[in-house]
Amino acid sequence: MSDADIKQIVKDKYGKAALKVVEGSASYCGSASEREADPITSRLYTESQTACVPAEAAAASLGCGNPTALAELQAGETVLDLGSGGGIDVLLSARRVGPTGKAYGLDMTDEMLALARDNQGKAGVDNVEFLKGEIEQIPLPEASVDVVISNCVINLSADKDRVLAEAFRVLKPGGRFAVSDVVVRGEVPSAIRTSVELWIGCVAGALAEQEYRDKLATAGFEGIDVEPTRIYCMEDAREFLARAGIDAATIAPQVDGKFMSAFIRARKPRAR
Ligand SMILES: C[S@@+](CC[C@H](N)C(=O)[O-])C[C@H]1O[C@@H](n2cnc3c(N)ncnc32)[C@H](O)[C@@H]1O
Repeated sequence: MSDADIKQIVKDKYGKAALKVVEGSASYCGSASEREADPITSRLYTESQTACVPAEAAAASLGCGNPTALAELQAGETVLDLGSGGGIDVLLSARRVGPTGKAYGLDMTDEMLALARDNQGKAGVDNVEFLKGEIEQIPLPEASVDVVISNCVINLSADKDRVLAEAFRVLKPGGRFAVSDVVVRGEVPSAIRTSVELWIGCVAGALAEQEYRDKLATAGFEGIDVEPTRIYCMEDAREFLARAGIDAATIAPQVDGKFMSAFIRARKPRAR
């Protein structure tokens, strides 16, 4: 599959997800109870966080972590969310950085941008801007951002090196990379890996933990840390895998505990 094909699949998938929210079916992947039971996207935010964003922003949440809770955002900082979707993490960031700071969201899917801008209007926040563009080519100048966040998006990119190089470029010296993403630990047989990645939604494939560290280091980052936030077991994926002809119980010993959501931290070195 070409990079362009992957991008089109991702756009179609998340365009439909945004329209579902707009149409009022609160969840993209099934009923409300199914969504509540989703081991990847459910229960990521505290009640106090969801209470301070529009219901549609919470309903559109398709991440796998809660980067703003871990990113230690400070008043006055500029934050950029790569693949901002319905905007939940941008709106939460905007509250944290306050009126002297700014939160940018970046997304390539028109329907998601429309939903995010609508959510911004409902939230009544001014220090937010949603940009159209690709995370492989960030439409911001170099050294313009204090913190790059992202929630379950980098795994969707077919060119992760480019994404990390772009994140590095737009960060100010000393700026932080604070991202939630799906990461693989250890060896997983490739046929099984593909099915599990499709279950998690990683169209372009998740990085192994060491690969993530190496790619961040190659991009120039230091202080790299990968902290597990949720570890998946194959029982969670039983029905999905059965449809692909795979018995979850049989593969569990090879796969359980090897796919996780993680919080990935790194820092752009200060200018010397
Ligand atoms: C899994 S959703 C996550 C949305 C949001 N971060 C959240 O937590 O709800 C992925 C989002 O990233 C966007 N996206 C995926 N690949 C992208 C790319 N290469 N450039 C820009 N946006 C992208 C999609 O349009 C979608 O809105």
